[in-house]
Amino acid sequence: MNREERLAELQRRDRLAEDGGGPQRRESQHKQGKMSARERIEFLLDEGSFEETDKLVTHRCNDFGMAEQKYYGDGFIAGYGRIEGRLVFVFAQDFTVFGGSLSEANAGKIVKIMDLAAKMGAPLIGLNDSGGARIQEGVLSLAGYADIFLRNTLYSGVVPQVSAIMGPCAGGAVYSPAITDFIFMVDKTSYMFITGPEVIKTVTHEEVTKDQLGGATTHNETSGVAHFLAHDDAECLSLVRELLSFLPSNNLEDPPRKPSNDPVDRVDSALDTLIPDQSNLPYDIKDVIHGVVDDGYFFEVQEYYAKNIVVGFARLNGRSVGIVANQPAFLAGTLDINASIKAARFVRFCDCFNIPLVTFEDVPGFLPGANQEYGGIIKHGAKLLFAFAEATVPKVTVITRKAYGGAYCVMASKHIRTDVNYAWPSAEIAVMGPEGAVDIVYKRELERATDREEVRQQKIGEFRDRFANPYVASERGFVDAVIQPRDTRKKLIQALEMLETKRDRNPPKKHGNIPL
Ligand code: HXC
Repeated sequence: MNREERLAELQRRDRLAEDGGGPQRRESQHKQGKMSARERIEFLLDEGSFEETDKLVTHRCNDFGMAEQKYYGDGFIAGYGRIEGRLVFVFAQDFTVFGGSLSEANAGKIVKIMDLAAKMGAPLIGLNDSGGARIQEGVLSLAGYADIFLRNTLYSGVVPQVSAIMGPCAGGAVYSPAITDFIFMVDKTSYMFITGPEVIKTVTHEEVTKDQLGGATTHNETSGVAHFLAHDDAECLSLVRELLSFLPSNNLEDPPRKPSNDPVDRVDSALDTLIPDQSNLPYDIKDVIHGVVDDGYFFEVQEYYAKNIVVGFARLNGRSVGIVANQPAFLAGTLDINASIKAARFVRFCDCFNIPLVTFEDVPGFLPGANQEYGGIIKHGAKLLFAFAEATVPKVTVITRKAYGGAYCVMASKHIRTDVNYAWPSAEIAVMGPEGAVDIVYKRELERATDREEVRQQKIGEFRDRFANPYVASERGFVDAVIQPRDTRKKLIQALEMLETKRDRNPPKKHGNIPL
């Protein structure tokens, strides 16, 4: 080969790699409303920033006529690039080549960029669209998956790991996304399940469609496996970019700051009248969040799941914060199994990546019920307690109304190392609500009373005056300050500024044993 031929040969191979499974299969992707793997990467990354690795890798399988079917890249596109100028590593499964299935060779490509991501301290993003293990390769493919799972685990808490499910993701293949920090799903075109509808029909005689079983709505609303729902590929990839804007690149960095023109001392007088006069009436905790954070902008995580607790990212004076808030507008803001698990995982994520936690508390207690007890609310509620107690990032809590019973302790109380605890004048901090308390404490007296209801109401009034306020807790120092609701933004920003250099550690150990 002369020099020109050598250059042409590289071009030929490059072109073949870029062509993937060919125009026909690409067209089929487009017809389903899906982008191709390369289009996805281009859309995700800053323009022109993608550098591909292992573009010319091919599989090494000779069985089942595979020797004659080789595609450069082998159905996975991997490499690195930039999002808002920051380094990220990315892979995209190319469904047009062997259905994006995982082979020994392309697993090696993923492992390579995972190791680089960890060494460089940069996030890893996986764009999933695959028929699973490369059937022709048998255990070699399974080994590839296991190599990836191991790294997902080892690098958990080292660099943020994000999975976007943009097509099929079935069988054991789901476990890589499941270990990553956040799962995005595209409505109607993506699904995740361990066993598909056909197997389920054979084994349990249940009939479900792929979408019912493992579509984006199912995993966002019912199972809680997914964290974000997008309506198409473009929205999904834009959401991934946005999520990363709140996160540091690794566990040794602080999150990036995004300056805002929202004044740090902005008051929101609407907050003064937000809490209804009657304490059993609902209000929307998101009104508090929007009223307080920079530009009223809240990036909610798991919006459709366990709506009795709200979690997500926002900024205060340009600084990322993780928000955890009871939602009185749903199940009265009680903590149940799903809410506890949802919030616990979010708290742990924030603690991994140096994102301060801001908690808004209005919780009447844990949700009562036999189903909750049988489902293990004891161990699941303990997850949230453990997560808050273990977290060493700056922690600030605002009790807007109810803080009752065990839930008071759990929701980032002073006693589990929360740095600054505020309460609004509407706060009620006690073992239980006045009605329940009176029925227990004055049980015998009420039984004896001739005018039972009158006595009961009088006692409830006394109890409310004595305990349903923030002042007993503030006299003890369990609440650092009772603040005017309108000043909440200013107070939070001041507290977080004070805490900016916080250093705290847990006792030396291999790792704790969170109640799983
Ligand atoms: C090799 C595969 C493949 C696979 C799809 N293809 N899945 N090749 N290994 N796992 C190929 C097809 O042969 C076809 O090739 C092309 O990809 C497109 O597939 P279609 O079936 O035509 O596409 P579609 O109708 O859209 O159906 C998509 C699908 C289906 C539902 C994903 O392909 C499917 O059921 N695939 C098998 C899924 C599966 O059982 N995987 C193993 C799961 S167990 P041509 O050349 O015709 O275009 C697993 C374990 C992981 O993954 C364990 C980890 C521990």
